Amino acid sequence: VTTSVRVELGDRGYDVVVGHGAAGLLPELLPRGVQRVAVVTQPGIGFPIDPGVEHEVFPIGSGEDAKTLATVEELCAAWSRGGLTRADCVVAVGGGVVTDVAGFAAAVYHRGIAVVHVPTTLLGMVDAAIGGKTGVNLPEGKNLVGAFWQPAAVVCDLDSLDTLPERERRSGGGELAKYHFLTGDDLAAMDLEARVAAAVAIKAAVVAADETEGASGVRATLNYGHTLAHALETVGRYDLRHGEAVGIGLVYAAHLALRLGRVDEARVAAHRLVVAGYDLPLDAPPGLDAGELVDLMARDKKAVDGLTFVLDGPHGVEVVAGVDADVVRAALTDVGVQA
Ligand SMILES: NC(=O)c1ccc[n+]([C@@H]2O[C@H](COP(=O)([O-])OP(=O)(O)OC[C@H]3O[C@@H](n4cnc5c(N)ncnc54)[C@H](O)[C@@H]3O)[C@@H](O)[C@H]2O)c1
Ligand SMILES: [Zn+2]
Repeated sequence: VTTSVRVELGDRGYDVVVGHGAAGLLPELLPRGVQRVAVVTQPGIGFPIDPGVEHEVFPIGSGEDAKTLATVEELCAAWSRGGLTRADCVVAVGGGVVTDVAGFAAAVYHRGIAVVHVPTTLLGMVDAAIGGKTGVNLPEGKNLVGAFWQPAAVVCDLDSLDTLPERERRSGGGELAKYHFLTGDDLAAMDLEARVAAAVAIKAAVVAADETEGASGVRATLNYGHTLAHALETVGRYDLRHGEAVGIGLVYAAHLALRLGRVDEARVAAHRLVVAGYDLPLDAPPGLDAGELVDLMARDKKAVDGLTFVLDGPHGVEVVAGVDADVVRAALTDVGVQA
């Protein structure tokens, strides 16, 4: 009933299980010898889990405002008062905010205690809970403090998505849409379990090749659709969820690739179909300034040589540096930005 994907990282390797009711496997996925579990979650989630050993629930707040060092301190203090030891385990039940915060707290508590992620958002399942990046925000910016801390296992129980608000589900769809174009696999033909497992397998392979996001740039393909998405998010005047911005970014990247002669019209149509299939907008919100977006994209932290994009092409999705600013600007009209 479940699909299992291995993240191959030697002695830090772990299984990601995907399926309806997968949370029932939690007891057997805990590291050997764990006596007690600290469950970190948010009040609004309410996904019931039973780790099969003594456990206590530690609720944290919701939203980016809760992704702080203060929350990490509160968690570590509460774990300490509860007598949690290095032989015990943290289980994070929630979206990316919960897995990022609980993962980071686990990385630093007693210099590192095991964590198992139980992502309850689609975005968490196909992205945030996989790969070991953990961290919190500072007033100065997002994700500025963190650590690489691989989980001992990841449990993607698709039943947890039943209570997920519609907009959160669509946002996760934006991230899932990206995986449709990273390999030759036909994700559109798959049911949800196979599709999430396929996305996890793609991320797992990239993480295995480049665990700590080194100079190899292997992880860059995971940023497909993200260059415009980050610019749209930075403009900040619009109420866009991350996945919504990524959806627009994917359509934009396809049009840009077409204008550069890297793909044909059919490939652009395929991008539009996949993004629309997740009920996501294909066009940027109205009133955006093309010049401002181009400037923001030129300043993208992944940019090494002028305007750098992750683009589809004859050799698949790859990093393309030095893209002509005029073409970048012209392609913005393809996603509804006035020239
Ligand atoms: N570590 C990584 O590699 C990585 C990758 C991508 C994103 N992230 C981080 O993930 C965060 C975004 O994660 P997200 O999109 O999952 O948002 P989120 O964690 O804020 O969750 C969205 C909302 O849905 C609620 N929720 C979660 N699961 C629910 C459920 N099953 N039923 C009802 N409500 C539920 C949450 O309480 C929250 O209010 C960002 O902080 C981002 O930086 C991290
Ligand atoms: Zn993303």
